Amino acid sequence: LNIYKVHPMESSAHYIKERINQFQPTEKRPFVLGLPTGSSPIGCYHRLAEFCKSGQLSFRNVVTFNMDECVGIPRNHKESYYSFMQTHLFKHIDIKPENINMLNGNAEDLDAECHRYEAAMAAHGGIELFLGGIGPDGHIAFNEPGSSLTSRTRVKTLAYETIIANTRFFDGDIDRVPKLALTVGVATFMDAREVCIMITGAHKSIALAKCIEEGVNHMWSVSAIQMHPKGLVVCDEDATLEL
Ligand code: GLP
Repeated sequence: LNIYKVHPMESSAHYIKERINQFQPTEKRPFVLGLPTGSSPIGCYHRLAEFCKSGQLSFRNVVTFNMDECVGIPRNHKESYYSFMQTHLFKHIDIKPENINMLNGNAEDLDAECHRYEAAMAAHGGIELFLGGIGPDGHIAFNEPGSSLTSRTRVKTLAYETIIANTRFFDGDIDRVPKLALTVGVATFMDAREVCIMITGAHKSIALAKCIEEGVNHMWSVSAIQMHPKGLVVCDEDATLEL
């Protein structure tokens, strides 16, 4: 028996590298990767960047779609998800800028922007592998508790708890925290051919237990992963406290 002690984000990065490297891309069918923001994927993104630097991985044939974006903060604001992705991943890898897809939280018509995004995913043949993190309340992307399990990309009002959690990024000033976001829906996420959720920390242990050991429930939106034919949960020891 071999026991490997690797950090969970390390194993996610290895897994993603293998999946991309095994894939046979064509011009019409690149590898389409769905991506989250948040602190959970940072370690994984840094590792992917290292793989790229050392020539073990290339994003030349990868198209990405991010899962969400805040409404109403400038794209270059340090807390926009656009800036986050540039800082932690995109500027360190060889992805073609035209292959990066992000929701525009400053679009004049937000509903049209959400429709455009769904259409762009479909035009690429759908998402091959969608990565995600979760909030302590079990939300995926910005599918706050109560989001329909059949939801698609749309404008979402953030839950009070999420707004409070986000004040840490805006100098503790709740008035500056975005109250709306654009987010893929639970069904958009579930449409991917494979989904992978990264969960770390004791503060997410109840969410993990609710999501994988209790019934599928729209109050814990990530519990939908139980219905996915190819769902993977990558977690650390602390997150398993309630299992
Ligand atoms: C936000 C994001 C989610 C993310 C969650 C948890 O709500 N919209 O996509 O999963 O935060 O973030 P963290 O990984 O920092 O705990």
